[in-house]
Amino acid sequence: MLLDDRALHASSVVANCAMNRERQLAGVNSYARVLGFDPVDGLTGAWLDLCCGSGRALIQAADRLAGAATLVGVDLVDAFAGGAPPGVTFVAAPIETWAPDRVFDLITCVHGLHYVGDKLGVITRVVRWLAPGGRFVADLDLDAVRLEDGRPAGRRLVTRLRAAGIDYDGRRRRITCEGPKELIFRYEYLGADDRAGANYTGQPAVHSYYRA
Ligand SMILES: C[S@@+](CC[C@H](N)C(=O)[O-])C[C@H]1O[C@@H](n2cnc3c(N)ncnc32)[C@H](O)[C@@H]1O
Repeated sequence: MLLDDRALHASSVVANCAMNRERQLAGVNSYARVLGFDPVDGLTGAWLDLCCGSGRALIQAADRLAGAATLVGVDLVDAFAGGAPPGVTFVAAPIETWAPDRVFDLITCVHGLHYVGDKLGVITRVVRWLAPGGRFVADLDLDAVRLEDGRPAGRRLVTRLRAAGIDYDGRRRRITCEGPKELIFRYEYLGADDRAGANYTGQPAVHSYYRA
């Protein structure tokens, strides 16, 4: 049986306390390592980190930026590392429904979409929040996007993403998008499966089902 968002958010796979919520800004277990770039380099406007976990990367970024940028972290679970320092706002909310009141120069979602039900719906919402020239970068395992009959959406989805201006790096399993976009995916979200097992990160993840 496929789960709706309410059931998914209560699932032990999503609330899993063993998942890595502690990535730092730089170093071995870090955003810079996962993303392949240092998010603070050249950042002057605003950075939104979706599924931010403990928010350590944002806290460290605030320290380095000394007020030069606005930093917002959103996570379903309020496991933020202490109080937010000046310049940082933490929001405990599901990214399927939360919406910002401004645009961002950088939006990241580091190993967060693996636990989201409507991954394509979230991507569609998020890319509207980019400032002109802004960048959205997220880990996305396309194997977790399934069609009604259980098959992965596969290459056709990659083609549709690319046609919509979203780059997919298959080796790193990462999507990148520049500037605000109005996406129209011809996929109807059906629900999520939290019993899909471990994905390439080694942690149990969520498969998202769509009618093409
Ligand atoms: C593997 S952790 C990554 C945390 C952080 N990005 C890092 O790299 O340290 C995934 C995070 O996604 C959050 N998450 C899962 N589903 C979510 C949802 N629907 N809305 C917001 N956050 C969600 C989890 O609570 C968890 O903190």
